[in-house]
Amino acid sequence: MSRPGAVPRLAVLASGEGSNLQALLDAGERGNLPGEITLVISDRDGAGALQRARTAGIQALHLPPQAHPSRGDYDRLLARSLADHGTDLVVLAGFMRILSDELVQSFAGRMLNIHPSLLPRHRGLHTHRRVLEAREAVHGATVHFVVPELDAGPAVLQYRCAVRPWDNEASLAASVRRGEHLIYPIAVKWFCQGRLRCRDDHVLLDDQPLRAPAVLTRDGAMALAAPPI
Ligand code: GAR
Repeated sequence: MSRPGAVPRLAVLASGEGSNLQALLDAGERGNLPGEITLVISDRDGAGALQRARTAGIQALHLPPQAHPSRGDYDRLLARSLADHGTDLVVLAGFMRILSDELVQSFAGRMLNIHPSLLPRHRGLHTHRRVLEAREAVHGATVHFVVPELDAGPAVLQYRCAVRPWDNEASLAASVRRGEHLIYPIAVKWFCQGRLRCRDDHVLLDDQPLRAPAVLTRDGAMALAAPPI
């Protein structure tokens, strides 16, 4: 943390509804998030995340990309806003923009993302549809540290659920989203407690290298050395 001993300051970046932001806010309300969300930024004016932030009394910034057509300019503005708030950890929660290498590198080891698939499977968009098309039996979500390559950073924690015979894209998205709301607050909590770090693209939990992401299943079991899918 930039200020040893201080409560970590979190900035959440979100483009959409903000249900993951809400899960983090709720964890904070329950005394289960030893960090303070001080800033929420969205690239979309109508993002539910901005409204949720305002309701919680958190500064909500809409930064319209149209005003900064080059990715570099936009990301420099983002970086300035994050720095102005003394951000210790950037939490990407459905922020649907590709970030410049420069911005990612300036928060190396201090930027987390949640992705709706069991990475490295299904990077990118339309993950639920692709899981159904491939007739896969297991699906889920992954929290990972962010590196310049899209959805490729070292994985920290996964939620895994079986794909049920009756699942369609919407039901699968809902199951995965419920799992996201469980795992993101846990991973952010680990980071705020100083238990979770990323060194040379490797995840350390309690100073031990995680050879595979920790896994939470639908029945609530947590495994630190789960077998690969
Ligand atoms: C979440 O499902 C998250 O995994 C996904 O966007 C959704 C945001 O929902 N992120 C990505 O697809 C990033 N590649 P929310 O706005 O309700 O938190």
